[in-house]
Amino acid sequence: MLTEGIRGRVSGGGANRFLAPDSETARLYEEARRLMPGGTSRLHYYSAPYPIYARSGKGQVLTDVDGVERIDFLNNMTALIHGHANPRINQAIVEQLERGTAFSEPTPEEVALARLMVERVPSVEQIRFANSGTEAVMLAIKLARAFTGRSRIAKFEGFYHGYYDYVQVSFSSTPDNWGPVDAPAAVPSSGGLADSVVREDVLVLPFNDREAVEGLMDRHGRSLAAVICDPLSNRAGFPRPAEGFLDYLRQVTRHYGIVLIFDEVISFRLGYHGAQGKYGGDPDLTTFGKIMGGGLPIGAVGGRADIMALLDPTQGPPRVLSGGTFSGNPLSMVAGYAAMEQLTPEVYARLDALGERLRSGGNAVFRATGEPAQFSGDGSLFRIVLTDEPLTDYRAGVRRAKPATRLSQLHRLLLDEGVIIARDGLGCLSTPMDETDVDFFLAALERAVERLTAGTASP
Ligand SMILES: Cc1ncc(COP(=O)(O)O)c(C=O)c1O
Repeated sequence: MLTEGIRGRVSGGGANRFLAPDSETARLYEEARRLMPGGTSRLHYYSAPYPIYARSGKGQVLTDVDGVERIDFLNNMTALIHGHANPRINQAIVEQLERGTAFSEPTPEEVALARLMVERVPSVEQIRFANSGTEAVMLAIKLARAFTGRSRIAKFEGFYHGYYDYVQVSFSSTPDNWGPVDAPAAVPSSGGLADSVVREDVLVLPFNDREAVEGLMDRHGRSLAAVICDPLSNRAGFPRPAEGFLDYLRQVTRHYGIVLIFDEVISFRLGYHGAQGKYGGDPDLTTFGKIMGGGLPIGAVGGRADIMALLDPTQGPPRVLSGGTFSGNPLSMVAGYAAMEQLTPEVYARLDALGERLRSGGNAVFRATGEPAQFSGDGSLFRIVLTDEPLTDYRAGVRRAKPATRLSQLHRLLLDEGVIIARDGLGCLSTPMDETDVDFFLAALERAVERLTAGTASP
């Protein structure tokens, strides 16, 4: 088995030969830095002093350009639920390549994926495809504005929804700028936002705090077009929705005539009917991305037919315009269909059990080593958060957490032990994995945490 081989080679560290100055990675990165700002196209790609470069992936194993194999617990930031080079997805892509990669005309493959999604998610009566989660969020917000005739939106503190201006607010607030707990400040999380975004256009809500949300809704509810919420927000540390909180959001948004958007770009991983199938909430619109594309670029908005009708061109110019040269392209459609089709309720149940094994085993490692940290998440998603405070909202994961540099050290040590997660602690499982991979992760974690606490943190 692949994992046995990897265990033999990297047990006790030694996988990080990419850090040697004469490595292929070092050479590539030096050139990349000359050509691209910071050497990268995507913020996540970078980790100091430079990232590993992927050569290839198969199943749960990723091989870097220096020939080192590691188990991939990140899977293109959770997008590859079947790991790398899944045979059915690959076959679907190859067959589509023969027929053509993209057309000015729609294809049967677009209809097939639309049918699958509408049949799977009860709140989705109709769907519109886009190219990324960011585009899907952008379109959902525009739909909400056009439907309500209002402009302002509300989002939760610490929640990430991509890089559209109106959601690049308060996903990385810090104690010195986040303001009162019951009325969080709107803080820009990126440069380049229009002044009005932070000043007027976005209201920031505290997650799981019904009383505070009630107060803010009393004051601002009638001016809001949308409330956007991720039922299980990665960036906020995966706080689980408190009993009844999502139902309350449903009720209060309905009361004020606000469109409730669930962002399930990541959390759609949680089950056959997505996060809403697991936690409830019955949104008006849902945004999708990542796993729905089977490894190719994708995004989508789905939801109530009367809201989606704003995109309908059959009765004259639609009220909301959305285009995208590659929206609904058949390569993403067939890859997505092949990925989704393999995700049966039984497959989700197996991933859930593996996820539980990883999170509870990981928490046991932290308890045994005395490191104040925890594994959060649900289903096939997990995140290492460096605090033992119960995670009810974004602030709980930040308030007393160890500095981000410690998490980066742990990330690097895990790489050295043959395990890939994100440098901010995010990780996920893929269907090729089994208990051996999870146990490999746990053994690697134990050694990495021992090295971290012993202060021998430079692999
Ligand atoms: C919850 C959530 N929404 C939206 C996005 C944006 O998706 P994309 O990166 O495909 O633009 C992300 C990306 O990580 C996400 O995690």
